[in-house]
Amino acid sequence: DGLAVVVVAAGSGTRLGYGMPKALVPVAGRPLLAHALRTVREALPAAAVVVTVPEGDTELSSLARAVGARAVTGGATRAQSVARALAQLPENTEHVLVHDAARCLTPPVVFARVVAALHNEASAVVPVTPVTDTVRGVDEAGASTGTVDRAGLRSVQTPQGFDRALLVRVNAAAGLLPVECEADAASTPGPEGITDDASLVERHAPEHTVYFVEGHEESFKVTRPLDLLLARAVVAARSG
Ligand code: C5P
Repeated sequence: DGLAVVVVAAGSGTRLGYGMPKALVPVAGRPLLAHALRTVREALPAAAVVVTVPEGDTELSSLARAVGARAVTGGATRAQSVARALAQLPENTEHVLVHDAARCLTPPVVFARVVAALHNEASAVVPVTPVTDTVRGVDEAGASTGTVDRAGLRSVQTPQGFDRALLVRVNAAAGLLPVECEADAASTPGPEGITDDASLVERHAPEHTVYFVEGHEESFKVTRPLDLLLARAVVAARSG
C-alpha cells in the first residue's frame, strides 16, 4: 500500500572492531543484515525494501537481493546514505520507514506501531524508550553543568516513519538532495548535530509534529562489542 522501508547498512563498523562492514558481522551464524532483513520482511511482507551498502560491496547487495530488496551504494554519512536511498524509492511510495540495519533484532510489533501511527495521520513517527541512566550535561571543557531530569528524556530508536513527500522535502532543505553524482554526494556536508531523520523534520519543517510510539529494549543498536554479545544472547533466547 505504498509503503517502503530504507534499511541503512552502509556503515564501516569501525567501533565494532571486526575489520568488516558491521552489517556483515555474524550473529548466530548469519550476517547482521540477514537478521535485520528477516525482521523487516516478517513485519511488513508487502513493503518495498531499499538497502544502503558500502561502496564496492557485493556480499550485502546479494543478501538484499535474495529477499527481493534493492541495494544502493550509501554515502559518507548516514544522512547521505538515507538521501541516496530516497532517490531510489518506487514511484508510488506514500510512506517510508528508515531503519538502522544495526538494530537487527527489532521486534515486528515496533514496525506495526510506527505504521499504525502513519495510517493515523502522523507524518513523522519515532519509537522511543525511557532513559534509565542518570544523565548530566557538560560544558565545552567537559565540566558538569548539572543533572538533567531523566523523566523528561527519551532515547530514540528506529524504524522512524514518515510521509514520503515530507522526508524528501526536509532532505532537500538540508542540502542532501538531489544526489546527482558520486562527487556531489561526497562533498555534501552532513547536517550539523543531526543524527537521525526525525531531527531533520524538526529543523526544516517545524510545523510538523514528531509523534512518539513505544520502542523496545530489543531494538538496541549493535555498536560496540558488548552489543554483539547481547545480540547473540537474544537470538539464542528466541530460538529457545
Ligand atoms: O554509525 P551508526 O551506528 O550511527 O550507524 C547507524 C546505521 O546507519 C547503521 O546501520 C549503519 O550501517 C548506517 N550507516 C549508513 N551509511 C553511513 C553510516 C552509517 O548507512 N555512511
